[in-house]
Amino acid sequence: MDKFVIRGGNPLLGTVRVSGAKNAALPAMAAALLTEEPVILENVPQVRDIETTRKLLSSMGAEVELGYGRAQHRTTICCRNLARPEASYELVKTMRASTLVLGSLVARCGRARVSLPGGCAIGARPIDLHIKGLERLGAHITQEHGYVEANASRLRGAEVVFDKITVTGTEDVLMAATLADGETIMQNCAREPEVADLADLLNKMGANIEGAGTSTIRVKGVSKLNGARHRICPDRIEAGTFILAAALTGGDLNVSGCEPHHLDALLHKLTEVGVKTAHNGDSVRVLGSGDLKASDVVTEEYPGFPTDMQAQYMALATQAEGTSIITENIFENRFMHALELVRMGANIKMEGRRAIVRGKTPLSAAAVLASDLRASASLVLAALVADGETIIDRVYHIDRGYEHIEEKLRGVGAQIRRIGEMLPKKVAAPLVRA
Ligand code: EPZ
Repeated sequence: MDKFVIRGGNPLLGTVRVSGAKNAALPAMAAALLTEEPVILENVPQVRDIETTRKLLSSMGAEVELGYGRAQHRTTICCRNLARPEASYELVKTMRASTLVLGSLVARCGRARVSLPGGCAIGARPIDLHIKGLERLGAHITQEHGYVEANASRLRGAEVVFDKITVTGTEDVLMAATLADGETIMQNCAREPEVADLADLLNKMGANIEGAGTSTIRVKGVSKLNGARHRICPDRIEAGTFILAAALTGGDLNVSGCEPHHLDALLHKLTEVGVKTAHNGDSVRVLGSGDLKASDVVTEEYPGFPTDMQAQYMALATQAEGTSIITENIFENRFMHALELVRMGANIKMEGRRAIVRGKTPLSAAAVLASDLRASASLVLAALVADGETIIDRVYHIDRGYEHIEEKLRGVGAQIRRIGEMLPKKVAAPLVRA
């Protein structure tokens, strides 16, 4: 398993470019299942979850071509021949977002068999709201042997009200509704920019969707969808991660290729902490300064402070003067990074959904373990300001959602390198003659 070796102390200076959003690209790839014609996606990030989704779609019979060279961020997906509308446990267990294919498959093929995702490091991650939404559209759904089986001769439009706000639940039901017979009105929807980006693609494919990005979405079902070309929106969480890295290291960094208005909650919080930021067009400039002030954070659904930035913010809070109370409202177990930060010298106490961070505490390098995607990012940020050389193990977590992060950070002055597992050379076994 690869490791990162990071020597702290360098301010980040210069310009770093943000990739396309993983959490927009994944539903966009699932949307290609809704049509027989090719869907071409641009600005797709080169991250592990995209490769996993390529494997998943290919296992069903789709042709998925990942671009390379100058077209390396382009993906062309053609789902003309879907032999097996199934998502196996082997694939789903590595990426729970695979459940995003459920709605598309049952809408396109009339049936779907998708492994239940099981929990993950940050929580139980059930998909009961996905299932309830699809049942409202007329899907008959059973669960057995760890799989969800969904059947529907033809989905029909309905009123769907989500008990809780769910991002992929909204996306799953939205995709199914595009081919349902009649109108669907979805209430209490997720308002994340990635939902609006998906709706933008679906409308380019011929769907009839209004209100995506708000809590009420109206869909007039159509009989078929066509191919389309779409550019994935920038990754606001990657942008936010680099913004915090600049704030932490006292740098002067331009984070380019992003959508600053997707970052309002974070940028507002940074103003309270004493970090100067300015944005114009598609970039945010961050002027880090030594004196950071503690400020509380409560994670909420968009447009509130994103849960996917909570771990990274905790790293910043360790360097802020005073006490920062971080409340995680979205997932029940998303503080794993805290214990690793404590091993680096942070003063953090957990009380249920709250983490109390007392700063400023100097951080010292240590050997630490990544546990999930955003926890890994938090450890990278801490290592950038720790005294000495930090080794982060299991960086495959970070590779799921950050494209070439070590190259991007090195490009703006960080001392970071990746070391692969030094596996002994395999000695070919002597041929044994039977
Ligand atoms: C999406 O996950 C993102 N993943 C997550 O990003 C992100 O943290 C999360 O939204 C919240 O913003 C993708 O978009 C691929 P939810 P999702 O359904 O859709 C509960 C990352 O780091 N819930 O909005 O799975 C759930 O347990 C990842 O990039 C149900 O109870 O999250 C959670 O407590 C991590 N039943 C809350 O709702 C359901 O059927 C919000 O989950 C679905 C969800």
